[in-house]
Amino acid sequence: MENKQFSFPENFLWGGATAACQIEGAYDVDGRGLSTSDIHRYNSKLDRKKYRSKLVENEHTSATLAACVADQDGYYPKRYGNEFYYRYKEDIALMKEMGFNSFRFSISWPRIFPKGDETKPNEKGLEFYDKVIEEVVKAGMEPIVTMFHYDIPLHLLTEYGGFKNPKLIGFMTRYAKVLLDRYADKVKCWIPFNQTNLIQYCSFKSLGILRDKTDNLVEDQYQAIHNQFVINAEIKKYAKALNPEIKIGIMLADCTYYPNTCRPEDIVFTMRRIRRQYFYADVPLRGEYPGHMLRYFKENDIHVNITEEDRELLKNNTLDFLAFSYYYSRTLDSQNNTMDPRTISENPYLKGNAWGWTIDPLGMYNAISQYWDRYQKPIMIAENGFGYEDVFEDGTVHDDYRINYLKQHIQAVGEAIKDGVDVFAYLPWGPIDLVSSGTAEMSKRYGFVYVDLDDFGKGSGDRFKKDSFYWYQKVIATHGEGLCFDNPENPIMIAKEK
Ligand code: BG6
Repeated sequence: MENKQFSFPENFLWGGATAACQIEGAYDVDGRGLSTSDIHRYNSKLDRKKYRSKLVENEHTSATLAACVADQDGYYPKRYGNEFYYRYKEDIALMKEMGFNSFRFSISWPRIFPKGDETKPNEKGLEFYDKVIEEVVKAGMEPIVTMFHYDIPLHLLTEYGGFKNPKLIGFMTRYAKVLLDRYADKVKCWIPFNQTNLIQYCSFKSLGILRDKTDNLVEDQYQAIHNQFVINAEIKKYAKALNPEIKIGIMLADCTYYPNTCRPEDIVFTMRRIRRQYFYADVPLRGEYPGHMLRYFKENDIHVNITEEDRELLKNNTLDFLAFSYYYSRTLDSQNNTMDPRTISENPYLKGNAWGWTIDPLGMYNAISQYWDRYQKPIMIAENGFGYEDVFEDGTVHDDYRINYLKQHIQAVGEAIKDGVDVFAYLPWGPIDLVSSGTAEMSKRYGFVYVDLDDFGKGSGDRFKKDSFYWYQKVIATHGEGLCFDNPENPIMIAKEK
């Protein structure tokens, strides 16, 4: 009985999340510079199941980067996105119609600082976000802004070697201050870095490392992430002096791990992999490096320059909330996997999509609970969703598979709230179909709204409501009460305490 009556808190943030480089397009308009996202070429022969373990982007050198910039033949989908730059009013109106009271989007760094090292921002770029933020606020939504989501200006890679160079601390902090100064009265919730923990998966698009500009990749990755920790703290320090209402969050890509067996070796190995992931939130939320990381650096001859001044800054400027994306869980086998987060094993109990991303709402409940128990800081579900090759017919998509996925995951959030966890937002990924980050496909769709564009950008770009549009609208309108929390087939219910 009690379950039927559950509803989400009145002030809960329901919305959706996007990234500039996957929606905006207009890559060469109004003074925008080129970024890492603009050189992700679409590959129609890509192996969807295997692309994650060998991300070609990470192999980029100065030469391959220049070749992509000069390439006249290939199609680079993130240069065109889903045309949000021209259709933002229509898209925000659709979100409003669904009942969103919040919208997470990112600002494109190369629109504001085209090369990244200028001293003055590009006013034309800022004007675009003046309009977007005004529209979002007018629609009754709280803007949640990511400052950097996989679009480092290319010049910062070729000239400075990316985030491993301490000069980027100054460049990104300057960019962040411009945003805070301009939007502090309208935007209270900021995420400086998208998914900060994927340094092995995304050393190119997250850290800006080119293979010809590093002699020691592992050391450079950890130096780059340290520099990002320092940037977070600098941003927090500036924001709290500007307006104490501003909240700055750290964001992880959740990699919930399960041990393959109850062999103690599997348990300890899994604990270590999870702990390695927590490290990326430990430093910004607790203000210091955990001992196991310092030991790892020492025993592996990894020299990260952490100054006394850095330690003080980190200690005194911890962040306000934890945001994380959750798509699927991973399973680990101590005999076949290593500490490299890209190595995982199959989970025979879970089914997945064409890209091998499994459906596991219990994994999300588990993740939320672990984070809360560890940090006791407010939690934002910054991304969640089910990528699928939708079939568009008669002007719509019957996406019951997406509804089922989202329903179960929202129920997982509900269970955590019932436990007393402060989860304050649920922001499904890509509410209006957008270009995939990992594969640059348009056909890996997450949206409540179908966008008539294919993998080569062909189509009208027009928007069509899917079945999930109306379903999510009802969820929001009823504060989640419209969900069936007592469905006996719901994995969340099956796993109830006995
Ligand atoms: C997250 C990213 O990793 O996952 C998004 O923050 C991304 O940018 C999302 O789009 C889904 O990944 P993909 O590869 O399916 O687009």
